[in-house]
Amino acid sequence: MWTFTLPTKIQFGVGVSRDCAQVAREYGSRPVVVTGKTLIGTDRVREIIAELGDVPVFAEVTPNPTVQQVDALTRLIREEHCDSVIAIGGGSPLDCAKAASALAPSSESGIRAFLTGGRQFGRERLPLIAVPTTSGTGSEVTPIAVLDDPDAGTKAPVAGPALYPAHALVDPELTLSLPRFTTVATALDALSHALEGYWSKNHQPICDLAAIEAARRIFANLERVCEAPDNLEARAELSYAALLAGMAFQLPKNAMVHACSFPLSTRYHLAHGAACAFTLEFAVQFNAPALGERFSDLARACGFSSATEMAARIHAFKRLGGLPCTLADAGIPADAIPDLVQASFHPLMNNNPREVTKEDLGRMYGGLT
Ligand SMILES: NC(=O)c1ccc[n+]([C@@H]2O[C@H](COP(=O)([O-])OP(=O)(O)OC[C@H]3O[C@@H](n4cnc5c(N)ncnc54)[C@H](O)[C@@H]3O)[C@@H](O)[C@H]2O)c1
Ligand SMILES: [Fe+2]
Repeated sequence: MWTFTLPTKIQFGVGVSRDCAQVAREYGSRPVVVTGKTLIGTDRVREIIAELGDVPVFAEVTPNPTVQQVDALTRLIREEHCDSVIAIGGGSPLDCAKAASALAPSSESGIRAFLTGGRQFGRERLPLIAVPTTSGTGSEVTPIAVLDDPDAGTKAPVAGPALYPAHALVDPELTLSLPRFTTVATALDALSHALEGYWSKNHQPICDLAAIEAARRIFANLERVCEAPDNLEARAELSYAALLAGMAFQLPKNAMVHACSFPLSTRYHLAHGAACAFTLEFAVQFNAPALGERFSDLARACGFSSATEMAARIHAFKRLGGLPCTLADAGIPADAIPDLVQASFHPLMNNNPREVTKEDLGRMYGGLT
């Protein structure tokens, strides 16, 4: 028995972000534009804002967006009486905007009330148009926003149907400017979504299809993009794969790789994709025996004959992108392993197909010297 849902309208293709102002008019008359400090300086974002006319712009979102940024954006939305939200950027601007679009119509002043285990979002939210500029998070099609709470030292997802974007404009052209590190890190985030959606205890057939297709396309195209960053056709493959990977995990949810990524990001400031990639090879080899034939099907579709081969390819991608591969690369002292292990047991760990113990994680980090 399974249920599949995805209420987001998806428009995919080279140049679709040029339709942003026109699409925005379908959803409201006074949108707020949400983006980051770097992206606000790019030609395409400026063009989109110019076409929208005199609208408020919130360009304060940093990588790993914080609860404070969500609250500040929510205040702006309320003060400016905005009726819709346009988020342009990687997962960070998208998540900040998604959380604020659900918080703004509520009676709460702060997003903390909705953090894991807290208040639930109602159905009401401002319609949001998501324009991804990385090929990684799939946030344009997920009902999740991941937020950093620096005061509590935590990073955790908020979730609920109100967080689905109303419309995704996925334009591979926007990813042409991604540097190699971010290209690889975000692609390995997408690969983690595909693999974790596939091996999650809650996996289901439609998400499985999306997962296999996403993983296959990432394995086939990531090196091509690194060799020729201007290859728009290969970039489009990664954008499509990231979108599919978002669809693959949005219902089954992630597992051990993402659970481990949270303390790696909050304590050691690893970019989200690099934090996922840090434990991905181990997770592939750890989980493969628990999946049996299902793993063989996935591996074969991606051109591998074993979990070891797949893990070796992931390792090669990390080297190619200059991602941290050892504790020393990541700035993690060996004596921090027990605390890191302790902090990794986020509820997502319970979705893992094979039970993960502290000893398993100790062995994993101990092997990364
Ligand atoms: N909501 C979800 O379903 C979901 C899923 C996975 C991850 N996330 C979250 O998303 C965030 C990570 O997002 P991300 O990996 O897309 O990175 P990001 O949004 O943090 O951006 C990373 C860096 O890339 C730059 N950048 C973005 N687009 C660019 C472009 N086209 N050209 C040049 N530079 C560009 C940004 O300015 C930033 O410096 C994390 O907080 C993570 O937890 C959310
Ligand atoms: Fe992720």
